Amino acid sequence: MKMWSGRFTKETDELVEDFHSSISFDSRLYKQDIRGSIAHARMLGEQGIISKKEAELIIEGLKEIEKEIEEGKITFSVDAEDIHMNIEKILTERIGDAGKKLHTARSRNDQVALDMRLYLKEEINVLLDLIVHLQETIVAKAEENIDVIMPGYTHLQKAQPVLFSHHLLAYFEMFQRDYERLLDCRKRTDVMPLGSGALAGTTFPIDRERVKEELGFSEISRNSIDAVSDRDFVLEFLFCASMIMMHLSRFCEEIILWSTDEFGFVEVDDAYGTGSSIMPQKKNPDVAELIRGKTGRVYGSLMALLTVMKSLPLAYNKDMQEDKEGLFDTLDTVKGCLKVFIPMLKTIKIFPQKMYEEAQRGFTNATDVADYLVEKGIPFREAHEITGRLVLHCIKQRITLNDLSLEEFKKFSHAFGEDIFQRISIESCVMRRDVPGATSPRQVSQAILTSKKIIEWNRLHIV
Ligand code: ARG
Repeated sequence: MKMWSGRFTKETDELVEDFHSSISFDSRLYKQDIRGSIAHARMLGEQGIISKKEAELIIEGLKEIEKEIEEGKITFSVDAEDIHMNIEKILTERIGDAGKKLHTARSRNDQVALDMRLYLKEEINVLLDLIVHLQETIVAKAEENIDVIMPGYTHLQKAQPVLFSHHLLAYFEMFQRDYERLLDCRKRTDVMPLGSGALAGTTFPIDRERVKEELGFSEISRNSIDAVSDRDFVLEFLFCASMIMMHLSRFCEEIILWSTDEFGFVEVDDAYGTGSSIMPQKKNPDVAELIRGKTGRVYGSLMALLTVMKSLPLAYNKDMQEDKEGLFDTLDTVKGCLKVFIPMLKTIKIFPQKMYEEAQRGFTNATDVADYLVEKGIPFREAHEITGRLVLHCIKQRITLNDLSLEEFKKFSHAFGEDIFQRISIESCVMRRDVPGATSPRQVSQAILTSKKIIEWNRLHIV
C-alpha cells in the first residue's frame, strides 16, 4: 500500500510506477537521508512531539537499516518511489507505529532538499581535496623544471619564450579560482532547510536550530517556500564543475598537442597511454582525450538543470527530481577525471631540449629586438616597424635574427650595437621579463613560494 493511498481509489498505472520512481538513482542518498531522519526524530522527541521512547526506537531502527544497506542486505522497491519512502517503509515494517510518526512535521520536499545539501557538502570537500592534490602536483612539476624554457604561444603561433614552469603555474591559478568558487558554493549549500515542510512550515513546535546544530549546518533557511523550491546550490555546483572540466580540457588539449611528433615536448607514461589495434608504433594520449571529451556531459548537466528550473512556479514541482542524475554523473565524472589526471601529470616525461630548440625558432625574440631599440631612444611604433622589416628579411634569407651580423643589423637601424646579440638570446628574453607575474626565473621562483602558501591556506579550508 502506498503511503499516500488514502485519497486514491485506483492503483497507480504500472508504467507510471516506473516512470516517476527515483529509487534507482536516489538510493545514493541513503546515508544523508538516515542522518537527517535521526536528527529530526531526536528533535521531535526532545520537543515532546513524539515520545522519547518512540524517538529512540526510530533512531535505533534507522541505524540498523543503514548498517544493513551497507552490507547489501536491503533491496529497495520501485513501489515505494524514492529513497525517503523506501527507508520510512522499511522502518515501519520493523518498528511499527513509532515508524509511522517519523514523518511528523516534515515533508519529502524539505527532506529531499536536506539530503541533497548534506550530500553535496560532503562531495564538495572531496573535490576540494582533489584540487589541492592537483595543485601540489603542478607546483612540484614547476619546481623540478624551473630552468626549462619553452616557446609561449598566442593563436597557437610561437610568440615569446617562457619558462615551462610559468606555463604550468597558469593552470595553478585556474584551479585556485575553481577552489575558491567551490568554497563559495559550499557556503550556499550549507543551509539547513528542514522545518520548511511542504512549503509553508509546520504547525508543530519544532526546534530547527537544534537540527541545524546536529547536522553541522551553518545556518537555517530563512524562507520555507524558497527552501523547498531552490536548487541554485546544485546549479552553482554544476557550474563550478563545468569550469573545472573546462580547465582540465585545456590542460589535456595541450598534453595531446605536446605529445605529437610535431611538438615532441612531452610523453605520457605508458601507464596512461594506449596502443592502436592496427598501428604497432602508436601510443595515444587517450586519457587526456577522454577527459577533454567528458567535459561535454558536465556542461550538458548544467544546461539540463538550468532548463529544468526555468519558469518553474513556486514551490516544489516534481520536475526537480531531475536534478539528481546530472549531479551524480557530474560528481562521478569530475572526481574520476581528477583522479586519473593527477598521476598522469605526475608521471609525464618532459623533453627540455626540444622545448628549448623550438623556443629559438619562430622569431620569439622579435619583441626583444624592438624593446632594445626603444631603450636606445626609438619610439616603440618605429622600433616595431624596423624589427618587422628585419624579420621579413630573415624569413627571405631563411635565417634567424641571431644569425644576422652587426653590419646587417645596422642597415636597418644605426641604433644597433654589439650588445644586441646578448640581448636577444632566449635566456635573456626570459630573464628580463621580471615584473611581478612575469616569466623571469626570479618571478617564477617567487610564484612557486606563493603557490605553496596558497596550498597551505587551501588545506585549512577542507573540512
Ligand atoms: N523523489 C523526489 C525528488 O527527488 C522527492 C520529493 C518528492 N516530493 C513530492 N512532493 N512528490 O524530488
